[in-house]
Amino acid sequence: MSTQDVRPRRLRRAIESKKLARQEYSSYRQFIRDHYDGFAGKLTGFTGLVTGHAALAGRLIRPRAFDVRGCKRILDAACGNGRYSKFLLRWADRDAFITSFDLSQRMLKRARRRLHSPRVSQVAADLMRLPYPDGYFDAVVCGWVLEHLPDPRPGLRELARVMQSGGKILLMATEDTLTGSVCSRMWHCRTYNRADLRRTCQECGLRWERPHFFTKLHRLFKLGGIIVELRRE
Ligand SMILES: C[S@@+](CC[C@H](N)C(=O)[O-])C[C@H]1O[C@@H](n2cnc3c(N)ncnc32)[C@H](O)[C@@H]1O
Repeated sequence: MSTQDVRPRRLRRAIESKKLARQEYSSYRQFIRDHYDGFAGKLTGFTGLVTGHAALAGRLIRPRAFDVRGCKRILDAACGNGRYSKFLLRWADRDAFITSFDLSQRMLKRARRRLHSPRVSQVAADLMRLPYPDGYFDAVVCGWVLEHLPDPRPGLRELARVMQSGGKILLMATEDTLTGSVCSRMWHCRTYNRADLRRTCQECGLRWERPHFFTKLHRLFKLGGIIVELRRE
């Protein structure tokens, strides 16, 4: 390996947050809950607008991208302020229900304020232990939460457990790129290597079907993080 390959990796590692790696998961989890309950969570509404992510969410949840038409039980995992649920509501069938959960009660409150819909229900829960029966959902959106787990496997296995066989999932995770490392530092999370995550998903019974990108520009420059459609085997 050349020094040219090693230097960016060192820089990425130097920038990346070490918070998750350096403490017990139980205290990290408490920290993250407080983090999103507090000012950082409040800020997600503002940062979503400024970075364009609130609108870009709509580029992913639509018929030509992650198509939820025909799905009746849809899960928004770690829904945050509900920016993905908003587009799920827009495109899902009228008789479809959207179930969402988050670790942070305040984020759920923010999502409720945004959505105002009897077709969406919210509950506080941890991705590592979901309060839903086996095979319940036919579609899942899991955005930018896997990076808050020390090991993705328990979370991915839980998602696979609550999904119907053949169900689809839109998974988004912070990638081990320079911009990913900056995000990791800002949001106190880890990053994932795309090839490693692909192997892990496969191990958990989630087949890697196709990558998605917010825009053509994101596709061209491989930006925006890991966004992939998976299929429950
Ligand atoms: C970066 S935000 C993403 C929110 C939303 N999915 C989106 O893309 O707009 C991460 C969310 O994950 C939640 N979270 C972190 N760890 C979690 C866990 N173990 N179980 C459930 N939610 C968790 C946080 O409270 C926060 O709302």
